[in-house]
Amino acid sequence: MQRFQINSYKEYEKAYQASIDNPEAFWEEIAESFVWKKKWSKVLEWDFTKPEVTWFKDGKLNITENCLDRHLKDRGNETALIFEPNDPNEGAQYFTYKALHSKVCKFANVLKANNVKKGDRVCIYMPMVPELTVAVLACARIGAVHSVVFAGFSASALSARINDAACKVLLTADGGFRGTKITPLKDIADQALETCPTIQTTIVLKRVNNDVTLLKNQVWWHDQLKTVDDNCPAEIMDAEDMLFILYTSGSTGKPKGMVHTCGGYMVYTAYTFRNVFQYSCSKTNDFGRDYTRSSPKDVYWCTADIGWITGHSYIVYGPLANGATTLMFEGVPSYPDYGRFWDICEKHKVNQFYTAPTAIRALAKQDTNYADNYNLKHLKTLGTVGEPINLEAWNWYNDYVGKGKCPIVDTWWQTETGGIMISSLAGVTKDKPTFATLPLPGVQPVLLDTDGTIIEGNPAEGILAIQFPWPSIARTIYGDHQRYKNVYFSAYKNKYFPGDGALRDASGNYRITGRVDDVIIVSGHNLGTAPIEDAINEHPIVAESAIVGFPHDIKGNALYGFVTLKDIGSTSDQEALRLEINQLITEQIGPIAKLDKIQFTSGLPKTRSGKIMRRILRKIAASETDNLGDTSTLLNPECVQEIMDNVL
Ligand code: WT7
Repeated sequence: MQRFQINSYKEYEKAYQASIDNPEAFWEEIAESFVWKKKWSKVLEWDFTKPEVTWFKDGKLNITENCLDRHLKDRGNETALIFEPNDPNEGAQYFTYKALHSKVCKFANVLKANNVKKGDRVCIYMPMVPELTVAVLACARIGAVHSVVFAGFSASALSARINDAACKVLLTADGGFRGTKITPLKDIADQALETCPTIQTTIVLKRVNNDVTLLKNQVWWHDQLKTVDDNCPAEIMDAEDMLFILYTSGSTGKPKGMVHTCGGYMVYTAYTFRNVFQYSCSKTNDFGRDYTRSSPKDVYWCTADIGWITGHSYIVYGPLANGATTLMFEGVPSYPDYGRFWDICEKHKVNQFYTAPTAIRALAKQDTNYADNYNLKHLKTLGTVGEPINLEAWNWYNDYVGKGKCPIVDTWWQTETGGIMISSLAGVTKDKPTFATLPLPGVQPVLLDTDGTIIEGNPAEGILAIQFPWPSIARTIYGDHQRYKNVYFSAYKNKYFPGDGALRDASGNYRITGRVDDVIIVSGHNLGTAPIEDAINEHPIVAESAIVGFPHDIKGNALYGFVTLKDIGSTSDQEALRLEINQLITEQIGPIAKLDKIQFTSGLPKTRSGKIMRRILRKIAASETDNLGDTSTLLNPECVQEIMDNVL
């Protein structure tokens, strides 16, 4: 019998081997520990050439019964969710499983009252408040498909996502607190709604008390709650019914709406959550925790926003499916000062802490070492996700936060994979600085050379690919299965291609080396070059542009834009033009995609077929001009010197 929790290296080896020898038997046993309305007829059917993947065929379930109802009997009074607001003086809120269940059922009834039916898409554009978690689960309760859009995105990014999925209802708030700022979410949403014909109703949460006016077909969240009760039977879903859509940037074209389904996603996020973080529900507490506010078990905190996959899988679904106590934080690491994360860890006696390298670097850079001013003795596991973590940041995290005694799980995965793919299991398998280390049970990675041949043996370096399906793999891109096939399954036959490069050390540990496509990761956010270039090119005097990433102390990468103008003499005020360009980017994508540097040039290096040679621009931006490679075959080699002479 496969045990749900892996407790030793030996058990990891055994589980991994079992998952390779007989994947169906392996996942079947794991899946049996959940509540199903009807058992599956077949564990797995797959064909990467189509591509088509079906897990737990004909199985029926509702993920919210697994995240909420099934805990009510034994842990109904334990804390499910801790909410830490932006302003520390506002005070935290605690929701037991009972309370969360009741709130979810109530809001599910609100959705029903607003004509939301199984299969309808609901867009959620909200700040990091408990109602966001409630809204996500309420959708799942009634079988509506949630599409959460990060509340830092602009009106045009929001409307593009609403329209792509033809969402019926929008959930938003009057605004959101972020440090000293308030994001005017309702105003942004109203702007987006001007071009969103499919939205029938907008439900608005009052959070910041902004003076907002409800327009036609807009209602207040609190008014809606007055007329519903908390009795809402869970909709019976097929294992392969859509659970949610979440957008991620590609290297070209519009954002991709990754589709995740109910059964496999639930099984995989729950299994990986428990094992990677070694979350413990059963340990009695020995440090006098206040039982009325918290629970006698671990407190887990992931600092991500629910607008990203990390929040979906490891704030909401994975932890709740395990009956865990999960903390969500509304604010930013720098408010009221850079000690805030540690203040929260101390206050809530956080045991597992999961954040991103960009946050670690920002904290490590402060003159004061705030981590020393707080009691972090409850920390047992530290986690990192989003981009490769550099050694300096890893060491700082280990020394100052973990005090050298907390395992660090460096978790490699993607929006598309739904859950963690390569990572150590805290304290069970060894971590190694800057290495994600070993594949989780069920994950079969390989390294390929450029023509797709598998590189055997260790050590090795190549392109990362996965050669067997795992339960939470995205099933398609919403409305564009052909694109799904092209992007992920066409580069290498019969393999899933994530777009990353990797190396493997002599012991088989993986280290992710970074993207091999035109996606740039800025502060952990996945940004495609094409949409940013499209935004810049909308400026009336811009002819052409190329974006590359360059190393940045805190963000990991920052964006460098090379821009040619229609008439180089048409502006003397380059500074004003830079501001206008960044304004366009902010409007079309959001402030996270703003360029740190913008260099105007008379030409961009191009191949004879007209493709911009980003490789050269990348090297110039990173000041690595010693080895530019052969530029003589370019269409316009002369522009390279000009660009080097004027580099910023
Ligand atoms: C890309 C996916 C998974 C949630 C956050 C990002 C990079 C992610 C790591 C890591 C090195 C990492 C990869 C990946 N990435 N985690 N631990 N080490 N690189 O999700 O926005 O879909 O981005 O983030 O390049 O492909 P995402």
